[in-house]
Amino acid sequence: MQIDLLSPESFIGGQPHDQFRWLRQHDPVHRHEEPGGRGFWAVTRFDDVWTVDRDFQTYSSEPTIMIADPASELGTSFGPYKMMLMMDPPEHTAFRKLIRSEFTQPAAHLREGRIQILARQIVDAVIDKGECDFVAEVAGEMPSYVIAELMGLPLDDGRELYKLTEIIHTSPEALPPGAGGQAVGKMFEYASGVIAEKRARPSDDLASKLLAAEVDGRRLADMEFLLFFLLLVDAGGDTTRNLLSGGLLALMQAPDQFRWLMADLDRRLPAAREELLRWTSPVIYMRRTARKDTELGGKTIRQGDKVVMYFGSANRDPARFERPESLDLSRDPNPHNAFGAGAHACLGQHLARVEIDAMLREVLTRMEAFELASDPEWLPSNFISGPKAMPLKFKAKQRVAA
Ligand code: HEM
Repeated sequence: MQIDLLSPESFIGGQPHDQFRWLRQHDPVHRHEEPGGRGFWAVTRFDDVWTVDRDFQTYSSEPTIMIADPASELGTSFGPYKMMLMMDPPEHTAFRKLIRSEFTQPAAHLREGRIQILARQIVDAVIDKGECDFVAEVAGEMPSYVIAELMGLPLDDGRELYKLTEIIHTSPEALPPGAGGQAVGKMFEYASGVIAEKRARPSDDLASKLLAAEVDGRRLADMEFLLFFLLLVDAGGDTTRNLLSGGLLALMQAPDQFRWLMADLDRRLPAAREELLRWTSPVIYMRRTARKDTELGGKTIRQGDKVVMYFGSANRDPARFERPESLDLSRDPNPHNAFGAGAHACLGQHLARVEIDAMLREVLTRMEAFELASDPEWLPSNFISGPKAMPLKFKAKQRVAA
């Protein structure tokens, strides 16, 4: 089996499940070559991924969670500053604490009403057309609006920022030279305007709170704010979008499952949403770096080695899930790790669940007879998985008069 988990081509039809299957069976901690780099360990079994993700003392998030070492395009001039995603405890704990309260389950549920209204507006905008690009016009709108609301920004700005995250998540080989760095630059330029605006007119939004917050008895440096901003816009954008469009695609490809869900949507949606998370696993990987020599899956890992966790593979591991290659919306329990685990477990997961439920409920109760107008175009990325465009035809459901 030809193993290539780097080339964007391996991901253009979705995650390379044939490669993952082979690796889990034959070489679950696989030494992977890296052109121009020093290679990495590809970890594909659920238990090994779980071990790596939870053991920050052995597996560090520094200097980066991307496979390429900094110094290349995106590891630009952040000075001494890092993004929270690329810190280890205790530093990471102090930064995460600054925004944790905004992302608890109760905090996410307080946003439910507003998110439901946004979902309705998003569907209102396409419902009479009978066709749309589901990714750009429906799935992508929700996370852009939600992050804008959270940060206290105009909703249209959220949409522009989201376009930049898509560039940032695209593999550099699939972009014109320098495009990734330019997108980060534009994001920072915008966020610098936010700093000026929120310092002049603070409000109760997350951007104002971050600017007023203290870590180790001092305010955040501007670059620390910029990196928080980039993380929040980046982390919640095309992850949620890809779950929604990849999820709808999975439902269309499994009509029996789709019918089962629609027979009792309200009751069945939570389990279905978890299965769609397992099935699509929008974050393909996170990298760690070994702080010391250790052993994993019978292989000797040396201090400084790159260790890469493949969540989409872990979530199809037969040692963890019965019939993992079948979409089973009633799966319960469903111990997937699409949101990761350990110190860095997705901070936005409760909010993501509220967004996903609101959007899926709105789409599935108002639209029907979904048909692909052409084949979905997949994001050419080895980091984030999902359709980049999904032209869809549909019919508006007739509303039953009360
Ligand atoms: C379906 C949607 C989403 C998926 C699949 C997802 C997945 C992930 C994963 C896999 C991680 C890394 C976990 C690890 O290293 O163990 C992560 C981290 C993170 N996510 Fe999400 N995410 C989603 C939505 C969101 C949303 C909506 C937000 C916020 C608006 C968000 C904010 C974050 C943040 C801030 C981190 C970094 C946490 C840390 O470093 O402590 N995510 N997410």
